[in-house]
Amino acid sequence: MSEKLKVGILGGTGMVGQRFISLLENHPWFEVTTIAASPRSAGQTYEQTVGGRWKMDTQIPEAVKNIVVKNVNEIEDTASEVDFVFSAVDMSKEEIKRIEDAYAKTETPVVSNNSAHRWTPDVPMVVPEINPQHMELIPYQRKRLGTTRGFVAVKPNCSIQAYAPVLTAWMEFEPYEAVVSTYQAISGAGKTFADWPQMEGNIIPFISGEEEKSEQEPLRIWGEMKNGVIEPAKQPLITSQCIRVPVLNGHTASVFVKLKDKSVEKEQLIEKLVNYRGLPQQLALPSAPKQFIQYLDEDARPQITMDVDYEHGMGISVGRLRKDSVYDWKFVGLSHNTVRGAAGELSYAQSY
Ligand SMILES: NC(=O)c1ccc[n+]([C@@H]2O[C@H](COP(=O)([O-])OP(=O)(O)OC[C@H]3O[C@@H](n4cnc5c(N)ncnc54)[C@H](OP(=O)(O)O)[C@@H]3O)[C@@H](O)[C@H]2O)c1
Repeated sequence: MSEKLKVGILGGTGMVGQRFISLLENHPWFEVTTIAASPRSAGQTYEQTVGGRWKMDTQIPEAVKNIVVKNVNEIEDTASEVDFVFSAVDMSKEEIKRIEDAYAKTETPVVSNNSAHRWTPDVPMVVPEINPQHMELIPYQRKRLGTTRGFVAVKPNCSIQAYAPVLTAWMEFEPYEAVVSTYQAISGAGKTFADWPQMEGNIIPFISGEEEKSEQEPLRIWGEMKNGVIEPAKQPLITSQCIRVPVLNGHTASVFVKLKDKSVEKEQLIEKLVNYRGLPQQLALPSAPKQFIQYLDEDARPQITMDVDYEHGMGISVGRLRKDSVYDWKFVGLSHNTVRGAAGELSYAQSY
């Protein structure tokens, strides 16, 4: 690509927005030229507004420090500077839908982290390794919006990334029922331990809306497109419990699964995981993990401290696969919630 695409980050001051900004530093295809946030941040330079609340391990990239933050609500002004936007604003669902549609109507593609549009029938919800074909919904959406270039595409909830790719790799063995418990990091709520000291040494057995998303969203990802609509898959049925744990980054999932194919061996299941390749790997996209899923043989893996950054946070780590006496198999999966589960996934979804 000779000239980089100009990118705007809506909600660029928040946890996911900061992750976008750090991941897009020196990206071969994209250049962050515009950052927008709430009216509270608008008018200040990026460094002034996030200086005291920068949450990444790396420094604020030099290239964005002096960008004057815009007001997300000033849509024409923000959209006029960019080729497309990544959206990570935290507002009510209705406000997010309105704003994302309005950006799309300025002929600006919107690639969003937010849940607001995940069930809008003509909006694709994509994990690029699993269902890139759902991007074929976009012409139907453009018809509704009256656009030729603008559209909205979304990613699913961060909690599903530690197990949905695994079940996808095993689809030929027909998984039909799964019990999933997720152990979710505090950055998933946009927080660090400094913001949320009550989480130190603590567990909270409730994350609003998370269990419904963890159960339903994989079925849409696995759904089939018929006449411009995604018909969600009927199986595997998933039941889940989502628990907040005192971890900064990384969502872990403990999963029990029943497969129709009772003859499958452990080696076959592992072989399917480690050989799973999606379109991003075939196209060797710059932000894609070379190895999407790794399997770890050691009993005490995957662990947050050793494995959360696997493939720069874009890979999925799986371990503890073994037969179960009630279900057929059980395993543990881990993924980075703000990289694979949020900003990272989108930095290559756009290329479709
Ligand atoms: N954290 C994760 O792991 C994760 C994963 C997947 C999806 N998500 C989703 O991504 C979105 C952002 O999450 P986050 O964790 O980054 O949240 P966050 O840290 O609270 O950041 C929120 C962002 O939205 C802006 N904002 C808040 N209220 C606004 C308003 N009334 N008008 C305009 N802008 C407003 C904030 O701007 P100011 O700085 O000016 O207030 C900030 O840029 C949420 O929808 C969340 O559900 C998060």
